[in-house]
Amino acid sequence: MRLDRFIAKQRTVSERSAREWIIAKRVAINGTPTRQHGEEVSRFDRITFDGRVLQPGTERLYFMLNKPKGILSATKDNQHTTVIDLLDHPDKTSLHLAGRLDRSSTGLMILTNDGSWSDRLTQPDSKVAKSYLVETDRPIPEEAVALFESGFEFPTEGITTRPAQLSLLGPCLARVVIHEGRYHQIKRMFHRINEIRLVSLHRESIGEIRLPDELAAGAYRALTSAERESIL
Ligand code: URA
Repeated sequence: MRLDRFIAKQRTVSERSAREWIIAKRVAINGTPTRQHGEEVSRFDRITFDGRVLQPGTERLYFMLNKPKGILSATKDNQHTTVIDLLDHPDKTSLHLAGRLDRSSTGLMILTNDGSWSDRLTQPDSKVAKSYLVETDRPIPEEAVALFESGFEFPTEGITTRPAQLSLLGPCLARVVIHEGRYHQIKRMFHRINEIRLVSLHRESIGEIRLPDELAAGAYRALTSAERESIL
């Protein structure tokens, strides 16, 4: 919301009066007086008027978590343990998931309360690369590499998957990098090749954010500022 609109609403005055107060430097955002009456403010900003707090500002939270198998990628569920249940933080209910993993999948999940930041990861046209390690129930043929690169059509959804990079690491072991996130995407792509099924699916990274080896299954930590800023 624009600052002048925010002040007008809070103080029940016209936007014109609010602009006059702002220009007179009576309003501060995050401790700094401003004259920019058109500036965008959000619930994360601390806003004061004549030194009195109009909005205390909510802390921005960004976490990575190593999702164990069997835990649900959801914020709430009556039956199953969710990734949010694994966190011990007073404001954990304000978090949402920046992308999901199937219940049987493991690895990197990102949780935040900053919707405009997570939109950059989750919007359908976001091209952030996601890397997965997969184990399959039978050998992956060499020609799968080219098939992943050329994309698979899913006619019921009217989509063709974007070029994905498949690196064969062993007969039944591979790394897959995709640049989108469709429902059960990797499982469905493998199924197209001789009905291969996945034995395990582990997300290693999202963009520049890598799951560190020392972060045990079920553990989490705050993202570093470099990790946050890597998502532009
Ligand atoms: N693709 C899948 O099929 N499952 C996941 O959990 C993630 C990507």
